[in-house]
Amino acid sequence: MSRFRYTPLQVAIHVGAAFPLVRVLFDLITGGLGPNPVQSLEQRTGRAAITLLLLSLACTPLNTLFGWRELLLRRRALGLYAFLYACLHVLIFLDVDYGLNWRLILDAVFEKRFILVGAVSFLLLIPLAVTSFDVWVKRLRKNWKRLHRLVYLIAPLAILHFGWARKGDFLRLQGDVLQPVVYGTIVIFLLALRLPIVRKSAVSFRNRILARRAGEFPAR
Ligand code: HEM
Repeated sequence: MSRFRYTPLQVAIHVGAAFPLVRVLFDLITGGLGPNPVQSLEQRTGRAAITLLLLSLACTPLNTLFGWRELLLRRRALGLYAFLYACLHVLIFLDVDYGLNWRLILDAVFEKRFILVGAVSFLLLIPLAVTSFDVWVKRLRKNWKRLHRLVYLIAPLAILHFGWARKGDFLRLQGDVLQPVVYGTIVIFLLALRLPIVRKSAVSFRNRILARRAGEFPAR
């Protein structure tokens, strides 16, 4: 009898990542996208992209904090799903929203700061997605890590794009900015956990808790 090849985490990632797309398709077919379907498509694919990007960014710090090593193997899938949704998001913008009218598209990029920032974060995501496969890890060696540090720039840019896309003032915390502020706080927290000094304190905190637990429940 063949054994099930996927771990529960893998199943959760694939099912969870497919879910927004299935919901969008369902709403598209049943006319449930609301009064502004194009905006709804843009917003939903954008939110899926940024959520998956944050989850991929969370894998390393969560392994540091909880010692869950499998997360390190799942970063790539989460990052690629984030890229897939970002591609859908951009395609909807270019084709469905702007009808591939490149003049209007370029005007939008240079006139609306949120579009410009979104475009930069998307362009920076492309080399990361292309080089995420093993063959590139081997080919680029040390430079692979350097290149993939770009995610520390991409994530804040995507958050800025998110905040500026919302009606309100993201930087003054006025208007409909609660979600981008929550996402931004998570990004700051995740990036801070990568600083050597913060990481060291987090690891020693985790070790103290584990040592205390081991004292409470000594091995027989
Ligand atoms: C060329 C690149 C991009 C373009 C042209 C673009 C365009 C747009 C547009 C038109 C909206 C809708 C604004 C509205 O009317 O509410 C939007 C929202 C959004 N985009 Fe992008 N985007 C780009 C890249 C990205 C990337 C790379 C991400 C994430 C990784 C992203 C995440 C989001 C999010 C989270 C929203 C807000 C959704 C909401 O309001 O709930 N975008 N973007």
